[in-house]
Amino acid sequence: MELSYDGKVSVIIGASSAIAQKTAELFVNAGLKVVLAGRKIGLLKKIEQSLNEVGEALAIKCDVRNEKEIMELFKNTEERFGVVDVLVNNPAIFQRKRIEEVTYADVRAIYETNVFGAIIAIKEAIPKMRKNNWGRIVNVSSIAGISGLTNASLYSSTKAALINLTQSIAKEVAPYNITVNAVAPGVIDTGMGKDYLRYENIKEKIISRIAEHRMGKAEEVAYAIAFLSSNEASYINGSVLVVDGGCSCNLGIF
Ligand SMILES: NC(=O)c1ccc[n+]([C@@H]2O[C@H](COP(=O)([O-])OP(=O)(O)OC[C@H]3O[C@@H](n4cnc5c(N)ncnc54)[C@H](OP(=O)(O)O)[C@@H]3O)[C@@H](O)[C@H]2O)c1
Repeated sequence: MELSYDGKVSVIIGASSAIAQKTAELFVNAGLKVVLAGRKIGLLKKIEQSLNEVGEALAIKCDVRNEKEIMELFKNTEERFGVVDVLVNNPAIFQRKRIEEVTYADVRAIYETNVFGAIIAIKEAIPKMRKNNWGRIVNVSSIAGISGLTNASLYSSTKAALINLTQSIAKEVAPYNITVNAVAPGVIDTGMGKDYLRYENIKEKIISRIAEHRMGKAEEVAYAIAFLSSNEASYINGSVLVVDGGCSCNLGIF
């Protein structure tokens, strides 16, 4: 059994991350066209080049803290490919600070990157998806958006906002065959997960809480994103798919 996509057009924002790169690989191999959006255009061009050996990819510079760049991203995607069918909202920054240490500049940076950017991207994508009466939006949240994360309240609360955004928009866009879902990764062996474990120096303790006793791999999150983006996920809307190796399913107190 294979998932089907009918050569749809996808936009992956925050495309330099390993999770996004694996998603882009799965998409291109499945025949989707992929727009790689993010700040590091040099790196994205290299990824574009390698994906173009298999299918069709295009790198576009987009800093999600800049509303105009998000609008340009969707305009340019439509100009090049005619439509936008799939949107993956992956950008995020993480910060470890006690709440008393947080500055207004921190709040702005983390909310603009993790939440405002996603809102504008969704807002821009929906009218383009409506033209085709089909769409898939996948927001990359976190298990930190389901339960709190001590000393990371800003990050955690942005990820909770993404989950509620997902749930709130789902019913609005359902009449146009658009679904909005989220993935909630646990501790993944990629940029942010690696940084967090090094920072906290508590790797053993965290790993012991994960039923699978290991960090997740980028592709294990990418497969969840790919499934939610497929034709076959048509009856999944407003859901949060937890990809955490059984980390958050148990209180862990006995
Ligand atoms: N790794 C984990 O354990 C874990 C757990 C739960 C959830 N997640 C989520 O998974 C996603 C990917 O995380 P990761 O671990 O792969 O970390 P990462 O490598 O740091 O990826 C973060 C991505 O966000 C992009 N980004 C940051 N600010 C941006 C901006 N202003 N405009 C556009 N893009 C921006 C980064 O692009 P640049 O290259 O421009 O910096 C990068 O592509 C994030 O949403 C994260 O919250 C990760």
